[in-house]
Amino acid sequence: MQQDRHSIRSFARAARLLLTTALALTCLSAAAAAQNTQIAATPPMGWNSWNHFACKVSDAVVRAAADEIASNGMKQAGYIYVNIDDCWQGKRDAQGMIQANAKFPDMKALGDYIHSKGLKFGIYSSPGPKTCANYEGSYQHETQDAQQYANWGVDYLKYDWCSAAHVYKPEQITEVYKKMHDALAATGRPIVFSLCEYGFKSVWHWGASIGGNSWRTTDDISDNWNSMSAIGFAQNGLEKFAGPGHWNDPDMLEVGNGKMNHNEYLTHMTLWCLLSAPLLAGNDLSKMTPETLATLTNPEIIALDQDTRGAQAHRISEEGPYEVWTKPLADGSAAVGLFNRGEDTEKISVQLKDIGMLGSVTVRDLWAKKDLGKFNGTFSADVPSHGVVAVRIHP
Ligand code: GLA
Repeated sequence: MQQDRHSIRSFARAARLLLTTALALTCLSAAAAAQNTQIAATPPMGWNSWNHFACKVSDAVVRAAADEIASNGMKQAGYIYVNIDDCWQGKRDAQGMIQANAKFPDMKALGDYIHSKGLKFGIYSSPGPKTCANYEGSYQHETQDAQQYANWGVDYLKYDWCSAAHVYKPEQITEVYKKMHDALAATGRPIVFSLCEYGFKSVWHWGASIGGNSWRTTDDISDNWNSMSAIGFAQNGLEKFAGPGHWNDPDMLEVGNGKMNHNEYLTHMTLWCLLSAPLLAGNDLSKMTPETLATLTNPEIIALDQDTRGAQAHRISEEGPYEVWTKPLADGSAAVGLFNRGEDTEKISVQLKDIGMLGSVTVRDLWAKKDLGKFNGTFSADVPSHGVVAVRIHP
């Protein structure tokens, strides 16, 4: 018995030592951490090709997206990154430098074009030999790939685990991601580093320590209510891991892709902004309705996502399908989302003491863009099925 206790204690000591050493090896220097915070002080915003175009992406598709963002008000609303997802890769040249495939005749020229619009350029790879769509990955070419991205003027890399599972052990994942972070840093170009490994190995615990600016917390989203709501409403509890420079990423937006109704897209947009999620529009911007554009660009909703305090929302009440979430904001006000996951309109309330507000408060409806007046103790609103009432409450 005595001996058992002794060996448990020495095992615990050895495990602690191993953990401390591993953390010391994987953590960033203070300067690197500060630079990391600067490049994603608030959650990155932009557009990504995957949700709508998947492998039908091309130079023309990406230029058209940049044209739209620069001229339709999205750029003013904060959407800056124009990101190519999977399926751009061609072969490596004789020196091992990655080349784009025939759909992207000149990556440097494409980067220049995006930059000429005052926007930034994003790209995608995998630490494995192949990407999820079976294109060339960065395995054993990390330094060269980072250099090539810098040559092309890349400002954002989404790095997707995919086939890395075939060549690495699960516990190597932190060093694998750190390797690409360091390769990017060595180029001297600030590049947002977006980890995509679907929440594997509780990435929120270590993503920031290896230089990740964001990390996917879930499997892929699809354009339907069940997928979006299951992902969005499951984020409660992760709020302690997000902050300036490092964000939880519940995946890209499906707003405007057509398979959810207007209230469902309002829920999607509101929830993602409350969650301080990266906002990467994933629709065809050249065929967007005015309603979709308005959903994506409401400045008062985006202000919640881009709030400088960087506090991710959490749930304060849940009664069956009715949920109330709140996010504290830099100016001392609080955002509140009253969400109805049920099938009929319902009156939903927030107890103001639950957001730390005693006495009289003022309430503004952020989708109606209307001041609702003063309230004391409780605020209630009728919320349509699958919809949301989003308010900002000032003490
Ligand atoms: C994975 C990612 C998606 C997308 C595809 C591309 O599924 O999670 O976001 O990048 O790969 O193949």
